[in-house]
Amino acid sequence: MSMHVLVTGGAGYIGSTAAAALIHNGYRVTVFDNLSRGHRAAVPLEADFVQGDLGDRAALDTLFQMGKFDAVMHFAALAEAGESMQKIGLYFRNNVTGSQILLDTMIAHDVKRLIFSSTAAVYGSKDSLIHEDDPHEPASVYGESKLMTERMVRWYHQREGLRYCILRYFNACGAMLDEHGRAVRGEAHQPETHLIPLTLQVALGQRPHVSIFGTDYPTPDGTCIRDYVHVEDLARAHILALEALDERAAMTYNLGNGQGYSVREVIQVAREVTGHPIPAVEAPRRPGDGPILVASAERISRELGWQPRYPKLHDIIASAWAWHRAHPQGYAEQGI
Ligand code: UFG
Repeated sequence: MSMHVLVTGGAGYIGSTAAAALIHNGYRVTVFDNLSRGHRAAVPLEADFVQGDLGDRAALDTLFQMGKFDAVMHFAALAEAGESMQKIGLYFRNNVTGSQILLDTMIAHDVKRLIFSSTAAVYGSKDSLIHEDDPHEPASVYGESKLMTERMVRWYHQREGLRYCILRYFNACGAMLDEHGRAVRGEAHQPETHLIPLTLQVALGQRPHVSIFGTDYPTPDGTCIRDYVHVEDLARAHILALEALDERAAMTYNLGNGQGYSVREVIQVAREVTGHPIPAVEAPRRPGDGPILVASAERISRELGWQPRYPKLHDIIASAWAWHRAHPQGYAEQGI
């Protein structure tokens, strides 16, 4: 019998990509998602799908009675640092309270393996590579909500025997291609707030320009620097982590390429990939953004053998461009 994995948030960008990777690797998958931000059409056809909210303990109990899960991959969360600064309560309720109810349900049903989606936003800005033990200084409510959840997870490990791997993603991007090079799954937020999709929407003629949020940061060109990591590389890390839970009961890893790019550099690479001039307009800083976040992923590389297959920004943006060109309306044209 293959292992049965519950994927919360499996209709979202990263969760659906990980669900597809799990299925590809022979796992059975059930997706639980409230579809507040995700897309039904992003859920892999081979996965079971249950619509519901983490705040609904009764729905979770029913879910855990139906399927005997061996592990949970917990992606479901709101993930916009900018939005979190305006909607504090919404972020703490969804991300912290929702996770706490999930953890209680897991323990009640004796499911004691968890892979948790955390973020680079738990760290403060740093002008050298960030390691897992660096100080936690979230610049946003979003980052704080993830850090609080991480801390809960560690207590459930200590007191309830939960085995966990916390994965701190830096900037997830790119699209999943099939064996024919067609983009089958990609980024589609409504409204879109992320730099790469917004930039590519300009190249598609859907927006007149992209805004550069802040040009007075203490960086070489004055714009924020981030570590852009391909969503398929993230998905593979989840599978490695799941396999490693047999041997290791408590893991925390960064996931990034160890290479930072400024906002201006990202837009320039997108110009090269698309052949479009992509006009950019300078704008004020966005609250919640730190100047520089670049990962050291040396720990997961050493301990689990993870190596990114798409470390080059050009290749990452090319895969995203394949997705946006093939699906200019995201999942909307699939009618769901
Ligand atoms: N940016 C712009 N213009 C835009 C959009 C973004 O200049 O129109 C800038 C942002 O200010 C930031 C950079 O581009 O400096 C990247 O912004 P994104 O919104 O694409 O990504 P974030 O870095 O804000 O956040 C992402 C995820 C978070 C995660 C974080 C970790 O959305 O969930 O990476 O670094 F926590």
